[in-house]
Amino acid sequence: MSANALAVGDFLHAFGASAADAALIAEEVVKHNFSYGRLEQEARDAAILSVLRKLEDAAAAGEHRHCIWEMAWADAARRYDEAGGDLVALEPSFISATPYLRLSGDYAAPVDPRFESNYYRVLRAWLFRKYLRDARDVYEFGCGSGFTLAGLARLMPDCRLVGLDWAQPAVDLINRVADRHRLKLSARRFDFFHPDASMPLAPDAVAMTFAALEQIGSRFRDFADWLIERRPSLVINLEPIAEFYDPDKLFDQLALRYHHKRQYLAGYQPYLAELAKLGRIELILARRLGMGNLFHEGYSLLIWRPL
Ligand SMILES: C[S@@+](CC[C@H](N)C(=O)[O-])C[C@H]1O[C@@H](n2cnc3c(N)ncnc32)[C@H](O)[C@@H]1O
Repeated sequence: MSANALAVGDFLHAFGASAADAALIAEEVVKHNFSYGRLEQEARDAAILSVLRKLEDAAAAGEHRHCIWEMAWADAARRYDEAGGDLVALEPSFISATPYLRLSGDYAAPVDPRFESNYYRVLRAWLFRKYLRDARDVYEFGCGSGFTLAGLARLMPDCRLVGLDWAQPAVDLINRVADRHRLKLSARRFDFFHPDASMPLAPDAVAMTFAALEQIGSRFRDFADWLIERRPSLVINLEPIAEFYDPDKLFDQLALRYHHKRQYLAGYQPYLAELAKLGRIELILARRLGMGNLFHEGYSLLIWRPL
């Protein structure tokens, strides 16, 4: 297995960031081991075989999964309690869950099993410092256990943070976390399929989703239109974007099949591109970072704002 390691320049390149962001990325990169190897043919074949096997039983996302998410976040709440209220316990189990990753156009075997979590840390540090510097009110939709919001609360203690999720145990967990750790954070129920017409957003709010719109397949229109009507100053979506894959490449075709089998987000990026053409939104960044777990790439960024 050949040895490589991601350096600051690789993150700048992946994020499409300028050299001016090198220092803030370096601050987080130096804390972690980003060494990885590429796979020899036999191991690569085995990785592909496990993706093909996964395709046979991967479950479709959607409305019928509501109770599965309720159970998942009730479990997370139990783990948080067992850990004595340690915020680290909020990290969802689907991050760093596969032994191999998708990285810069091929499979990779990370040396540190927490490579993906640490990559995500670098990404969040960059995103938050770059795009949320002046934010006063931040909403995360489909926020799950609230681990992103809890991290943000410590980075920006004066910012008002709101977590929204359709799973009541997630909402209850976040409100307990906020109380216990005295964070300026609250949570309430919200369903992408039925956005609450009576719910306002604070002026100049920032709205974010992380691996959450993926769950609603092609049914994103009600939420996207609801959001645009409320005129947030910025929207950050970190989601798997099917349209970024090249179906003529085996490596991408495998991820695309997984994406389709799970019925993940479809048509959202073209919808935003069309709105940008019509002058209804400004598309600030549309970028595939080239990072994912063994099965697909959840790390694609769409950053935009209504005009
Ligand atoms: C993969 S998890 C991501 C959670 C969180 N954003 C994170 O990064 O850890 C997907 C989240 O979307 C939520 N979700 C799924 N469908 C939803 C819907 N229709 N309305 C609101 N939330 C939904 C789930 O409850 C879950 O918390």
